Amino acid sequence: MRIRQAACTDAESIARVHVTSWQTTYRGTMPDAVLDAQTVSQRRPQWRRRLCDGDASLVTLVAESDAGQVVGFAAAGPERDGVTGFDSELEAIYLLATAQRQGAVRRLVAAAARGLLELGMHSMLAWVVAARPRPPLQRRARRPRGSA
Ligand SMILES: CC(C)(COP(=O)(O)OP(=O)(O)OC[C@H]1O[C@@H](n2cnc3c(N)ncnc32)[C@H](O)[C@@H]1OP(=O)(O)O)[C@@H](O)C(=O)NCCC(=O)NCCS
Repeated sequence: MRIRQAACTDAESIARVHVTSWQTTYRGTMPDAVLDAQTVSQRRPQWRRRLCDGDASLVTLVAESDAGQVVGFAAAGPERDGVTGFDSELEAIYLLATAQRQGAVRRLVAAAARGLLELGMHSMLAWVVAARPRPPLQRRARRPRGSA
């Protein structure tokens, strides 16, 4: 697996990974209709704008298989929500299921951090979805009748 900077010509491949990974990752979590409506042609313009318009503050990397196929990507850039203490942000990181658990994620994150450093950004924020504890009411409702 090779990690390299994304080029304008990668927009299609990245859009494809983006759609495929969304559909496999969020199936069962997001409505099927939303996932099934995702298409490469719908995603492509977003990536073309990012990669072809030449915004020098953005870092976009791809993970490429030994066969030269784009199997993952990472996107990073300036922090977008005004969170104090961070000047940059890991915006997205996606690997096809077949490319997971091979160390690519660490290499992508490290390369993104290096790219941000080179652009003068020194602290990278990454948002994660926290596991939500089950609400107390729901827990109580599942107890058998008569128990405390
Ligand atoms: C998230 C993703 C890039 C991680 O890549 P991966 O190859 O599966 O990661 P690995 O199995 O090598 O795990 C590397 C580390 O990341 C952690 N990790 C993996 N997936 C994670 C997740 N979804 N949330 C938090 N941590 C995660 C692992 O626990 C591991 O940590 P450890 O070494 O301390 O045990 C990959 O699973 C993926 O593309 N998932 C689908 C898309 C997605 O959820 N992207 C994030 C939203 S932008």
